[in-house]
Amino acid sequence: MAGGPSTPELAIAVGQAGGLGFLAAGYKQAGVVAEEIAAVRAVTDAPFGMNVFVPTPESGRAEPAALKGYLSELAPEAERQGAALGEPRFDDDGWEAKLTLVCDERPAVVSFTFGCPPADVFARVHDADICAWVTITNVDEARAAHAAGADGLVVQGTEAGGHRGGFIDDGSDEGGIGLLALLRITARATPLPMIATGGIMDGAALAAVLCAGASAAQVGTALMLSPEAATAEAQRAVMPEPGPTRVTRAFSGRPARGIVNRFLAEHSAGAPLAYPEIHHATSPLRAAARKRGDADGFNLWAGQAHELGQARPAGEIVREMADEAEAILARVSAGRRDPGTSGGSR
Ligand SMILES: Cc1cc2nc3c(=O)[nH]c(=O)nc-3n(C[C@H](O)[C@H](O)[C@H](O)COP(=O)(O)O)c2cc1C
Repeated sequence: MAGGPSTPELAIAVGQAGGLGFLAAGYKQAGVVAEEIAAVRAVTDAPFGMNVFVPTPESGRAEPAALKGYLSELAPEAERQGAALGEPRFDDDGWEAKLTLVCDERPAVVSFTFGCPPADVFARVHDADICAWVTITNVDEARAAHAAGADGLVVQGTEAGGHRGGFIDDGSDEGGIGLLALLRITARATPLPMIATGGIMDGAALAAVLCAGASAAQVGTALMLSPEAATAEAQRAVMPEPGPTRVTRAFSGRPARGIVNRFLAEHSAGAPLAYPEIHHATSPLRAAARKRGDADGFNLWAGQAHELGQARPAGEIVREMADEAEAILARVSAGRRDPGTSGGSR
């Protein structure tokens, strides 16, 4: 969870609870990520993963007039936050430096999002004995990741909080395909292990995706209220409340799911596809809103089931999720073998 919530402390707590904690490399300099890796390794031998943004092709850049129009629309927001709009520049988020860092540091897993790297990148990662996953949101992406050399697919359903990790437009609406449907069509399209993600907040949802063919689940929102996460205070206050989420380009120029707030409601219609340009342009405004505690002025990334979030230590959340899933799966399977004792269907 780049952009704040992910911390070394969170990766440590998840790893120590038997999960696979991740460090988010997105938006950070490679040197900062290297320090975070050292911080994790100083505390635990538990394996962990690293998540890296794949650069968006420059061919997919914003149409200049649409970008200019949107930046003018944001001028009153800048005034409201007492901050200047940032420069709407393109960059590759330090791709080569982060890839080199991954290969040098050799985390157990590297997961790629926003794109599928070419085959030679998978070869480099495999030479360093690292497992490589790619986030997919449709079957075309699953096939492309399989062909390029991915070892596993992070299957991201529309329920997911934060950015859509997709990279091939299959004609679905921007919200995308629901997790259960996506798991099943992906299972038919490739033999790769699936890591299900999107809206998984408890053991019941974990059990459900395991039943649907996933080998594991990846959670984001479920950990955001834990003390180990660096989630903004204003967001912590809003997250446990029931409330709608929507997929929007308003904050970053790339579709992402967040809790509906004033900024999202007022600017979703005008925002073009322009990542990372809009991300850089709105960054100072969002930082100022976060600092002021203005939950209507920055991105409240969260999945559709955010109201189930718990403000508890991350290790407890992970352990409880696993225990609960195990108990549910045992109950379901016992019910099938012996319907008379479980009250299950005959
Ligand atoms: C605040 C936030 C930040 C995220 N940042 C990243 C990221 O840096 N890289 C990534 O691959 N996915 C990112 N995601 C998406 C998650 O990997 C995952 O798909 C999502 O959290 C699953 O849905 P859930 O939030 O309902 O659990 C982020 C999600 C959230 C909520």
